[in-house]
Amino acid sequence: MAPPRYTVDPARLDGVLADPLFQAVAAEAAAQGLPAYAIGGFVRDRLIGRPCKDIDFVVEGDGMAFAAAVADRLHAGPVHVFKNFGTAMFTLRHGEDELQVEFVGARRESYSRNSRKPEVEPGTIRDDQERRDLTINALAISLNAGSMGALVDPFGGLLHLDQGLIRTPLAPDLTFSDDPLRMLRAVRFANQLGFTIDPETFAAIGRNAGRLAIISAERIHTELNKIIACDRPSIGFNLMRDCGLLQEFFPEFVALSGAEEKYGIGHKDNFHHTLQVLDNVCAVSDDLWLRWGAVLHDIAKPLTKRFVPGQGWTFHGHEDKGARMVPGIFRRLKLPLDDKMRFVQKLVALHLRPIALTKDEVTDSAVRRLLFDAGDDIDALMILCRADITSKNERKKERYLRNYELVLRKLKDVEEKDRVRNFQPPVTGEDVMRAFGIAPSKVIGDIKAVIKDAILDGRIANDREQAWQLMLDEGARLGLAPVAGMERPR
Ligand code: CTP
Repeated sequence: MAPPRYTVDPARLDGVLADPLFQAVAAEAAAQGLPAYAIGGFVRDRLIGRPCKDIDFVVEGDGMAFAAAVADRLHAGPVHVFKNFGTAMFTLRHGEDELQVEFVGARRESYSRNSRKPEVEPGTIRDDQERRDLTINALAISLNAGSMGALVDPFGGLLHLDQGLIRTPLAPDLTFSDDPLRMLRAVRFANQLGFTIDPETFAAIGRNAGRLAIISAERIHTELNKIIACDRPSIGFNLMRDCGLLQEFFPEFVALSGAEEKYGIGHKDNFHHTLQVLDNVCAVSDDLWLRWGAVLHDIAKPLTKRFVPGQGWTFHGHEDKGARMVPGIFRRLKLPLDDKMRFVQKLVALHLRPIALTKDEVTDSAVRRLLFDAGDDIDALMILCRADITSKNERKKERYLRNYELVLRKLKDVEEKDRVRNFQPPVTGEDVMRAFGIAPSKVIGDIKAVIKDAILDGRIANDREQAWQLMLDEGARLGLAPVAGMERPR
């Protein structure tokens, strides 16, 4: 586990009270005679010097009416009220930024076992704090006369921030049964902040992992994406696997675990390998969907694994099968099924291509075909491929890296010469029909395919003159004569 990435400094709370928002909340609290507090993520992030764009306030009273009064004082609004949750929020311009400001009445909550819907009754700040997910998220700042600016910390959140410890305020089984998503949040915060999960809390996650079943796929993928967005998501994935959470919503990924051996021949542990590839990608790209490409690039390895005498372990076709698995996984996790999913699918399908090129001589034609298939996603694909070179055998690794550099260079050359990245056929179907005076039919597609192959193979240049001539030649071969005047491109 990496050391905590942040240092805690209570002096960072200085100045909070001078902020007009906090002044308005304090003034309103005094006017209404209602205790009010800043709470949660804002306090945590402020203490560790991390930027934060949401501020939550708790009032011991009607949070919705209080929000409207504070917005009035600040000439802000409109105030959006979420009656079901007893919360109200508005957006506030804050220098360059927009802050989301949210108010809630302090609550005592008890959840029924089979849903996340809380039964809520009014409570004190302490009631509210103990019903939060983690001690580091339950810290509050008083905005009340007599204790103005004081940290309200009944569960040791400040100490845990300093120790880098993820712990629940109440007994973890209770905190997690209130909202099982919190188990995933515990892992996410451990990963984001470089913290350790307290052993008791970790053990409780193991006991309660199955309760994730009542959580919506949207809430799960939001946390999962935050883990994938970390600098080293391998930490979060390992934690999720070790406590049993990952199996609950992503069994295909858990299935990558393990290294089998037969007749003294082993294969690498693809769980570990995939995470290394993911971390490698994360070191050079923030693109969430490229990161998903890394997560899924070998996902079909367990399903395609064979031991072939004389060859050892093979995973033939795992790239195609993996690409076909992507929509099912995205659908189940309610991830977008649009061009982002297709991008991930393409990365999975093509991830072996750049390196496979180097098995033989790296011909221009093969490079052109790769560029044609990858299109604008070629750069992302090359990042994934580079990240996929993880061999422990230094000589092998060096050889792969040399090949990779060679492909990269060739890609540049071919691209400069041939412009096939976003290939537009120099002769269209419309051209073929006009040239031979024929109606839409299969033969048009056949002629276009011959032209495309000739360009990709480098037999003709990617230009209209040469493509037109090839169209005429191919037409003649098929018994088609050009319409008068169509012997030259028009
Ligand atoms: N909270 C909770 N249980 C949850 C979600 C949130 O107790 N399942 C509480 C925590 O006190 C948290 C606060 O609500 O600090 C705000 O939640 P949210 O905005 O989701 O999280 P943040 O802590 O602000 O962190 P992030 O913005 O990184 O999600």
